[in-house]
Amino acid sequence: MNKRGHLWGIGVGPGDPGLLTLKALEALKEATVIMAPLASSREESAALQIVKEWVDETRLRVYGFPMTREPDSLAACWREVADEVAALVEKGEKVVFLTLGDALTYSTFNYILQQLAGKIPPECVTTIPGVTSFAAAAAAENFPMVCGEELLAVIPLPDGPLSRVRGLVRESDTVVFMKIGNRLKELMAFVNEEFPDRAAVFASRVGTPGQYLCRDLDRLPEGVDGYLSVLIVRKAGIKP
Ligand SMILES: C[S@@+](CC[C@H](N)C(=O)[O-])C[C@H]1O[C@@H](n2cnc3c(N)ncnc32)[C@H](O)[C@@H]1O
Repeated sequence: MNKRGHLWGIGVGPGDPGLLTLKALEALKEATVIMAPLASSREESAALQIVKEWVDETRLRVYGFPMTREPDSLAACWREVADEVAALVEKGEKVVFLTLGDALTYSTFNYILQQLAGKIPPECVTTIPGVTSFAAAAAAENFPMVCGEELLAVIPLPDGPLSRVRGLVRESDTVVFMKIGNRLKELMAFVNEEFPDRAAVFASRVGTPGQYLCRDLDRLPEGVDGYLSVLIVRKAGIKP
């Protein structure tokens, strides 16, 4: 009988391969199978782009996932991917599962872990954390994000009106908005209302060749979109 393999869920950071951890690199080199996510709306996997220097086609498996929030289709998709991962590990393969940014911060690997429960022993799974998009965005602008006892809220834009998160926004000192998509204008109107004395960083595609950074939200050019973007807003501004 084959010896069981292993699964590493690795966060590859948001764009710059230089932010990959040594552990992630070790796992990538050791892997016999590398699984990369591809949203059905895209031609390339953003996570794979970051590590492509270390990934040869023979070890690569790209899996598609639907761009839907419909829970049943999503659950079916994650179950299928998790079953494939479990079968590979059972066969003795060393599987790396790529995720963008950090492995457990709004990442697909969260769902895979939940679906894998009971299918492979916990000691066969290792999560390697990565740099989140918002950590890289703050760093790119040397932007002091939170200090002392200040409260940080990380908010993916909710379905429905942004007023749904107003309470949390008002209780926090700094807010990170993620998953902005096509709602950048709506978010700017909300931020102007809630944070008149703010300091901010808008960061799109941080760490990639298409990176765009902006500190002055009043001067955000018309054509900028919210895809693969984060907005960090510090309520009290930045004081010397
Ligand atoms: C599915 S979540 C993944 C989050 C990721 N695991 C992390 O740790 O940042 C996708 C969201 O992450 C943010 N994101 C990911 N990569 C980014 C990048 N290179 N630049 C700016 N935002 C990014 C965007 O808000 C995007 O909508």
